[in-house]
Amino acid sequence: MRIMKGYLFGVWTLAATSISLTAMAAPLGLPPVPIPADNPQSPEKIKLGGKLFHDKRFSSTGQVSCATCHDAKKTFTDSPLRVSQGINKLKGTRNAPTVVNAAYFHKLFWDGREPSLEEQSKDPMVNPVEMGLPNHQPVLKLIRTDPEYVKAFKAVFDKSGDQLTMEEVKKAIASFERTIVAGDSPFDHYYFGGDKKAMTPAQIRGFQVFMGQGRCVSCHTVEQDQALFTDNRFHNIGIGINQMQKDVARLADTFLKAKTQGGNVDKAVLSDPKTSNLGRFAVTDALDDMGSFKTSTLRNIAMTAPYMHDGSLKTLKEVVVHYNNGGVTKKGDRVNDFLSGGIRPLNLSERQISDLVAFMGALTSPEYAKSVKTAKK
Ligand code: HEC
Ligand code: HEC
Repeated sequence: MRIMKGYLFGVWTLAATSISLTAMAAPLGLPPVPIPADNPQSPEKIKLGGKLFHDKRFSSTGQVSCATCHDAKKTFTDSPLRVSQGINKLKGTRNAPTVVNAAYFHKLFWDGREPSLEEQSKDPMVNPVEMGLPNHQPVLKLIRTDPEYVKAFKAVFDKSGDQLTMEEVKKAIASFERTIVAGDSPFDHYYFGGDKKAMTPAQIRGFQVFMGQGRCVSCHTVEQDQALFTDNRFHNIGIGINQMQKDVARLADTFLKAKTQGGNVDKAVLSDPKTSNLGRFAVTDALDDMGSFKTSTLRNIAMTAPYMHDGSLKTLKEVVVHYNNGGVTKKGDRVNDFLSGGIRPLNLSERQISDLVAFMGALTSPEYAKSVKTAKK
């Protein structure tokens, strides 16, 4: 049902905008969705992208689609799994981030290894622990021969047969994903809509901690007129890498050697947990990026437990305690050598901690708050 709303939203905005579509109208609290000049939105393209997103035939077993791990009923994640499960129940190394509002990210994946939604979308199909295809040929074969796809691709891109490539597949999927945006949360009504009753007193106090003593806002940004809750940058906040400090030098060395010899980063980081913990270093080869990951958006965060790139923190309370300890999950543990300067002990009281957790509960958009209630029935 929600996906239909997504389509309608796309259609409606199209009708309401003039010919040049560079941005799409957005819900309260969000900026317009950036639309690349070479991939304009259209209702038919969005619909085609939605079909591709849900098609299990793009996996080697015929059992896994994008929606398996990014399920609309689970706020486009696979919560409560710690790390994702692909074909044959093979486990990856990372927690599935939500696709909701991914349209606003400058780089995709926890380590930012892809520059756009278009480029991101081709990787899972050929990752051995996700959709498991040996290469993209089976995808091309299907879209060139399945009558429904032949018709839809012809209508959207005016191409058929060998003219169809992964470019069109990537564009359609990305167009669909750009309709999955959600704002309009109690926080948005409080802060941008001027409704002082939209948040509870605990949530309002928690917001003050978020902006002040907790210093969360320095990475999870809030602007005057909109809030993405991410600076779209990469930081080491002491997750994963803390548990492998002795191994870092050796692993980094082995990894770089394999990469020079043509090793595939996407496969490497999703098949070995320790390699995964190298974070953005695996992409840039820069020591400054060791163990750093993209700042997550906090929108709808109460719906997508567990947390962090490795799914190691089960609750929002555990997350806040980790920050309060200055970047270690267990108080007194040693911080890692690459920890961001922005992470220091916060000296929050028990009440400030629970207020902060309450505040994050005010970031849930109405469509996902409802989806959970229906899912529980
Ligand atoms: C087996 C589960 C699985 C499948 C199938 C899967 N994903 Fe994902 N997805 C993940 C995981 C895990 C990550 C994080 C991986 C990483 O950061 O290295 C991710 C990351 C993403 C991101 C990046 C979000 C961000 O915050 O940067 C997008 C977008 C996305 N997936 C879309 C898709 C699309 C489109 C498909 C289908 C072509 C797909 N996924 C198939 C598990 C899956
Ligand atoms: C120095 C930048 C920085 C600061 C300050 C910061 N965060 Fe984060 N936050 C991040 C990054 C980076 C991640 C992802 C880290 C990872 O997965 O390894 C993250 C992840 C999270 C997550 C989990 C997101 C998910 O999808 O799993 C939550 C919740 C969170 N932060 C809340 C907070 C709160 C609350 C504060 C303030 C107490 C805070 N953050 C302060 C950068 C920061």
